Amino acid sequence: MKNWRIVVTPGDGIGPEVMAAGAEVLDHAASRFGVGVTQLERPLGGNSIDRFGEPCTDEVFQDALDADAVLLAAVGGPKWEDPHAEFTPEEGVLRLRKGLELYANVRPVLVYDALVDQSPLRPEVVRGTDMVILRELIGGLYFGQPKEMRFIGGERGAVDTLAYRESEVRRIVERAFEWAAGRRRKVLSVDKFNVLVTGRFWREIANDVAAQHPDIEYDTMLADAFAAALVRQPTEYDVIVTENTFGDLLSDEAGVFTGSLGMLPSASLGDQGRALYEPVHGSAPDIAGQGIANPLGTILSVAMLFRHTFDQPQAAAAIETAVEHTLNDGFRTPDIGEEGARLVDTTSMTAAVIARIEGPAAG
Ligand code: IPM
Ligand code: MG
Repeated sequence: MKNWRIVVTPGDGIGPEVMAAGAEVLDHAASRFGVGVTQLERPLGGNSIDRFGEPCTDEVFQDALDADAVLLAAVGGPKWEDPHAEFTPEEGVLRLRKGLELYANVRPVLVYDALVDQSPLRPEVVRGTDMVILRELIGGLYFGQPKEMRFIGGERGAVDTLAYRESEVRRIVERAFEWAAGRRRKVLSVDKFNVLVTGRFWREIANDVAAQHPDIEYDTMLADAFAAALVRQPTEYDVIVTENTFGDLLSDEAGVFTGSLGMLPSASLGDQGRALYEPVHGSAPDIAGQGIANPLGTILSVAMLFRHTFDQPQAAAAIETAVEHTLNDGFRTPDIGEEGARLVDTTSMTAAVIARIEGPAAG
């Protein structure tokens, strides 16, 4: 039996709490479905800065490179927010994404029926929302050079650079079409065609890729118009593909539709089977250490790990169904808690999910 090696990085804030949940579900589902997994726990983010002076050491980076996948919880917190500090915890995450060449960040936004009333949008608007945001993850404004503080016109200033090569745009848009083929067969490419040269370039490449997929419905939209349309009719969208920074903003916007950012999983995929899985939420320092963080984003990220790294779609579906049943049975962490709900802590929520993981079917 193959033994998969997964680097797990609990990180900071609520990270260790939700990672404990994810690790438990990973072990449980692995033994249930006969998958061999070894978890290698490693420091990353603020805790790594404290211990080793940097957010991702060369050893941890090498371990991630050698592993089959990384499962990351969350990094950062007020302790590391000094603007003059040499490193930020987030640079640890960015080093892994960039170094492992994980260019395709997949963020599914699924609104569960049981949580429709928790959404800030009206139930009739949000019910049935099921989209995937494909965010380009290792190019664009996040990584373009130059990127520095400098004097501009005699005063202090700063520069970031938005740059894309054709191959970088092409591969993420290609991924969007692949993804759409397994879903409702609709791709929307989001850009700032009207203002940015990179926007015009992005659209040209996207149009070109779309022309090779006549069987998939394709549309384009300006990023600002899309930000507005998204809250008006979220059920319209299937697969959305966009630049790194737009994807960062839009996925947080779409994330609140689900009732809580704590619900959202993500996968960052590269070629050569490399992958990193993480909940979309941050380290939530305000509730860290209280044991009340929502573990579902991490648990659903584990489901994505089963699907995309282990190629175990049945196990992935079993975890996802268990989450749905847990919600239908009324279990709620405080972030999704409504009046009269069965309010539970991280540990009980996790136990409830594990108790509902079924399969594999006998025979
Ligand atoms: C995200 C986060 C990250 C980002 C941070 C932690 C670097 O906001 O995954 O969306 O900006 O990409
Ligand atoms: Mg973000």
